[in-house]
Amino acid sequence: MIISASTDYRAAAQSRLPPFLFHYIDGGAYAEHTLRRNVSDLEDIALRQRVLRDVAELDTATELFGERLAFPAALAPVGLTGMYARRGEVQAARAAAAKGIPFTLSTVSVCPIEEVAPAIGRPMWFQLYVLKDRGFMRNALERAQAAGCTTLVFTVDMPTPGARYRDAHSGMSGPNAPLRRMLQAATHPRWAWDVGLLGRPHDLGNISRYRGHPTGLADYIGWLAANFDPSISWRDLEWIREFWTGPMVIKGILDPEDARDAVRFGADGIVVSNHGGRQLDGVLSTARALPAIADAVAGELKILADSGVRNGLDIVRMLALGADAVLLGRAFVYALAAAGGSGVEHLLDLLQREMRVAMTLTGARTVADIGRDTLTGVTRDRFVSP
Ligand SMILES: Cc1cc2nc3c(=O)[nH]c(=O)nc-3n(C[C@H](O)[C@H](O)[C@H](O)COP(=O)(O)O)c2cc1C
Repeated sequence: MIISASTDYRAAAQSRLPPFLFHYIDGGAYAEHTLRRNVSDLEDIALRQRVLRDVAELDTATELFGERLAFPAALAPVGLTGMYARRGEVQAARAAAAKGIPFTLSTVSVCPIEEVAPAIGRPMWFQLYVLKDRGFMRNALERAQAAGCTTLVFTVDMPTPGARYRDAHSGMSGPNAPLRRMLQAATHPRWAWDVGLLGRPHDLGNISRYRGHPTGLADYIGWLAANFDPSISWRDLEWIREFWTGPMVIKGILDPEDARDAVRFGADGIVVSNHGGRQLDGVLSTARALPAIADAVAGELKILADSGVRNGLDIVRMLALGADAVLLGRAFVYALAAAGGSGVEHLLDLLQREMRVAMTLTGARTVADIGRDTLTGVTRDRFVSP
């Protein structure tokens, strides 16, 4: 297959991965309405074509939290990335560094902080979940800081995991899951050899180091489910604000009131996100939620957005709706699963190129030129609050 667009990587990932892993990545919560709308609402946004505006000198670069980004994107935190490619976090982080954008390591990564940070030529971001075991949280923050992580991405939309029915069907969970996973691995020999065998150990690196013994995939769901903390409130975050000396970004904001609370709390940024439609099905798509949030807090903190970004045009659309930058989730994971780090590098090239074309044809010379004027009037009426 010739890969010419990011959507091709999804198909390539599906043929390479055992189904339980592909559907874990690809799926969302409940009937997956929000998952689909994240993509279709973004697709519905019509950009405003402008011509004859001398865009020969075009620059996709931007600055975020004191870092230069080759284009306004970072790789989102994605759990279990080391199951989709051999030592997948290291491969993805190297690719992001090579292409000049940040990589965010998930709390529930396969490769621990200490394996990824020294392997890449750029400081990475670290994502933390709110967990009952505050000892783990403190330990993870100390280790992230010691490893030189710059920005903390604090995910707050997982007080409890959303129900992902696809996982029960695919063998990720449900009856006879271990046997089904083994059979699927046996029928995907390339993955079984490259990742299943040579990609070991398959534990949750950050958690194993804290607990002092390996934590296998089977433990993953149990440990997480037992540790998510629905009692959390803004006050519980104060100690983290004091403890973490770098920029702190709150991920999982979907409402303007919560965005204002993030400003009051003193966050440096938010990620407008519904977790890629993996948590509460039926909530607004990010494209729908973002404009009102931008109206409420733009200029007071940095606004990142994710969920549904699949190409460079989507990056421009998110920026036009009010984001300063986007996080890339499934888009990079499909490329990683299909073709490892070189797939991610190729994908990032594609996205940047698509973004350049969109900027050229909307008359935007710089990222700062992209705004509400980049949208057609019809789109502004439909998506942006009056
Ligand atoms: C397989 C998978 C695992 C994820 N794991 C995490 C995680 O560990 N921490 C987190 O904050 N978000 C996690 N997310 C959510 C992403 O960071 C991001 O919000 C989401 O993927 C954006 O939607 P998109 O995939 O449609 O771009 C995960 C998403 C996927 C697809």
